[in-house]
Amino acid sequence: MVKTIRGLTLSGVAMLLTTALMLPAIQTHAADAVKGSNIEQGKELAFSRKKGNCLACHMIKDGVSPGNIAPPLVMMKSRFPDKNVLRAQIWDASKRNPETAMPLFGKYEVLTESELDKVTDFIYSL
Ligand code: HEC
Repeated sequence: MVKTIRGLTLSGVAMLLTTALMLPAIQTHAADAVKGSNIEQGKELAFSRKKGNCLACHMIKDGVSPGNIAPPLVMMKSRFPDKNVLRAQIWDASKRNPETAMPLFGKYEVLTESELDKVTDFIYSL
C-alpha cells in the first residue's frame, strides 16, 4: 500500500518536472512558428514593392504611406467569408472588373501559387 502511494507520488513529481523542463522549449517553438507563419510571410510579400506592392493602392493595417485608389483592406472575413473567393480576386481581379487597375497577380504570375496562398492568408486575417 505504502509502496503504491509512494510510487504514484514519485511519478507525479517526475511528470511535473518533465513538464516544467519542457515548457521553455515548447514556448520557443511556438514563437518560431508564429514568426515564420504564412500570415507573417504573406504580410512581407504584400508590403514588398517588388512582390505584392498592395500598399501602392490599398490601405492596410501597419502599412506606411499607402495609396488610396483602391478600397482599404479591412474586415476581410466579413466582406469575403469564402477565402477562395478572396484568393480568386487576388489571382485575377479582371474577373470581377474587366477594367481593373489591379495587377492580375496569379494570372500574370507576378506571385507564385504558394506566394498567393500566403498573401491570401494575410489579407484574410485583416
Ligand atoms: C495598382 C493598384 C492596385 C494594386 C497594386 C493592388 N490592388 Fe487590389 N484593387 C485595386 C482596385 C482599383 C480595386 C477595386 C476593384 C477593382 O477595380 O478591381 C482592388 C480590389 C481589391 C480587392 C477587393 C476589395 C473589395 O473590398 O472588394 C482585394 C481583396 C484586393 N484588391 C487585394 C489586393 C492585394 C492583396 C494586393 C497585393 C498583392 C493588391 N490588391 C494590389 C487596385 C490595386
